[in-house]
Amino acid sequence: MADGHVPVLFQEILGLLAPAPGEVFLDGTVGGGGHAEQIAERIGPAGLLVCADADPAMLSMASERLRRFPRVRLVHADFSDLGALREAAGGRMFDGMLLDLGLSSPQLDDPSRGFSFRGDGPLDMRRDPGAGGADAREILRRATERELADLFFRYGEERFSRRIARALVARRREEPIERTAQLADLVRAAIPRKAWPRTIHPATRVFQALRIAVNRELESLDAFLDGFAAHLAPGGRVAVISFHSLEDRMVKLSFRAQASRTAAVLQVLTRKPVVPQEEEIERNPRAASAKLRAARKTV
Ligand SMILES: C[S@@+](CC[C@H](N)C(=O)[O-])C[C@H]1O[C@@H](n2cnc3c(N)ncnc32)[C@H](O)[C@@H]1O
Repeated sequence: MADGHVPVLFQEILGLLAPAPGEVFLDGTVGGGGHAEQIAERIGPAGLLVCADADPAMLSMASERLRRFPRVRLVHADFSDLGALREAAGGRMFDGMLLDLGLSSPQLDDPSRGFSFRGDGPLDMRRDPGAGGADAREILRRATERELADLFFRYGEERFSRRIARALVARRREEPIERTAQLADLVRAAIPRKAWPRTIHPATRVFQALRIAVNRELESLDAFLDGFAAHLAPGGRVAVISFHSLEDRMVKLSFRAQASRTAAVLQVLTRKPVVPQEEEIERNPRAASAKLRAARKTV
């Protein structure tokens, strides 16, 4: 979510998704409910909006914001669980689907969640801590140096991945790596000072990589991209906002492949990704890396 109030690229989203009265919509990443609120307004009392989030804390925040809309259903689910989401829509196909990937500000800003190098907290990073599964501490404890380097390189596109993995493994022989500030300091020290990025914290890419691994983010996106078209009504629209190149590439390739088959079911609506205007980036620096792609089901 943008700054807690104005959702990222929201005019552009509304233009491409074009929610109309009576339509059935899915917001697969409801977060604080900013986009969902705009969609609910437009589909009106005859429409139906299914909102999902894997993080129960975000769902309760969204339920406050969306309370005045009786035709909104909130579901604690991963957006890749398309069967459950369709069921929440009473089995009806969706006229529109939205994913706004990544994290929302309340998640990032809460040090106890461990997503951010600002402020100190436990290295948890699970979107749904109640669901169990390995947290970031466990990955940092168990992965080999090679596995860590690959993870930072693949998911963080971090060019100092090997140096960072080496420093991590050396440090964990002395003490467990369990806190966000500890990891941020270690990464900063492992990257040569003259190579520190100018606009982001030197640990940004490592934190991104760990978060992607902990939450299996690319697997969820892949499963969604493989399955969404079967749940979209003819003429239905899908839009995805991504925040890093790995995700954007997956969306681009999937839409393109589904639009170019002999029996194509999709038409790509965005030849190039839609990106925010300067004013939006000034208001909300997080929007700077946002890329929006959309497609329409033709049959
Ligand atoms: C950028 S925020 C969405 C902000 C929202 N569009 C708004 O206007 O407030 C992303 C949200 O998606 C959720 N999320 C990310 N990946 C998910 C997944 N695979 N399944 C379900 N929810 C997910 C996160 O927990 C977070 O709350």
